[in-house]
Amino acid sequence: MKVVSVVGARPQFVKAFPVSRALRERHEEVLVHTGQHYSETMSDVFFEELDIPAPEYNLGVGSASQGRQTGAMVSRFGELVERESPDVILVYGDTNSTLASAIVAAKTDASLAHVEAGLRSYNRSMPEEINRVLTDHVSDLLFAPTQRGVENLRKEGIGDGMVHQTGDVMYDAIRWARCRAAERSAVLDEHGLTTNEYVLATVHRAGNTDDPDRLEAIMAALCDADREVVFPIHPRTSERLAECGLRETVAECLTLIDPVGYVDFVRLLDGAERVATDSGGVQKEAFFLDTPCVTLRDETEWVETVDAGWNVLVGADEAAIARELSRPVSLPEKPELYGDGDAAERIVAVIENGGSEDGGVSEVEMTSRATDG
Ligand code: UD1
Ligand code: UDP
Repeated sequence: MKVVSVVGARPQFVKAFPVSRALRERHEEVLVHTGQHYSETMSDVFFEELDIPAPEYNLGVGSASQGRQTGAMVSRFGELVERESPDVILVYGDTNSTLASAIVAAKTDASLAHVEAGLRSYNRSMPEEINRVLTDHVSDLLFAPTQRGVENLRKEGIGDGMVHQTGDVMYDAIRWARCRAAERSAVLDEHGLTTNEYVLATVHRAGNTDDPDRLEAIMAALCDADREVVFPIHPRTSERLAECGLRETVAECLTLIDPVGYVDFVRLLDGAERVATDSGGVQKEAFFLDTPCVTLRDETEWVETVDAGWNVLVGADEAAIARELSRPVSLPEKPELYGDGDAAERIVAVIENGGSEDGGVSEVEMTSRATDG
């Protein structure tokens, strides 16, 4: 079986590596990097430390407006698929790289498999929400990390054996990374940080960075925190802060660092008292690492983390962010929400059975496990 897997943005490198490893044990994988992310700290560092082979192709699309970037990917990926004739095209998450590959797959004979299917914020102003909905609706195999994902798809009329609840590949990834980070990462020493004595922050969501009022309110709240705030800054946010004339002020009150590799990031997150973020992946990783999360968004796809008391939504409300950052830390009980850490194996098993439940994991089996739970 020949699988073309597509990645392009930072979170996709993390999601793909456990699956790539499992896939390559038994099948031919051609890894394609669209080039959506290209800076050393946003791309190369992940391939070096995650020990996955360099992508066989890099489409080199780079940055552009949503439409032009997605269009360039469709065109270049379309050519590649004609050349490679894969049996399966495997895509991850909700970026423009995901949608572009899905469009191409839908126009070929290859099956389209979507990892992280069924997630919904129900906020159509997010480019990611459009990417998720459209990708799910042209996918042949949908791998939902959670029970909620399965239900969301069912409400949209997608079910009938196409949907497989597998658990979350980011849990597989972090189980590998957590020990490695504790053993190998020197990031705390490099920045003079002490465990549980700093807040980690990440901000990059377009809805926050491209709205100067929201960006200013978030930065003001982070600057007012009574703890040191370590802020590995996404290039998009760096640019927007510079445009608003806020970058220097922020650099004075926060510990502003370049984006770090995955292992260092996991160490930073594991050691933080709490995290303030608008990232999708970081909300889950915080839950995996027992780090309380303050989410700088008005809604989330990862509703289970909020229901379980590990995550609180504060939007860009300066007072609410300040209140949640200064609240005494409490560590509620942790339900098992994202599987057993073997999502990658389950995904590969379903793909190799052509989507049949035989030998794979049935939605029903996982559903009853979650309910019995
Ligand atoms: C993208 C995804 C988002 C994901 C995020 C992960 C879409 C619509 N958005 O957002 O879902 O959460 O990646 O980080 O697909 N830039 C660099 N170097 C890079 C990459 C980007 O300098 O390697 C700068 C460029 O100025 C670019 C901007 O960051 O214009 C935004 O990059 P882009 O990939 O368009 O969107 P992200 O905000 O990274
Ligand atoms: N991450 C990283 N270095 C950083 C910030 C994040 O390695 O400086 C990792 C993080 O551990 C997670 C992924 O990048 O696995 C999340 O990416 P991001 O927040 O950019 O995207 P999202 O998850 O919101 O789509």
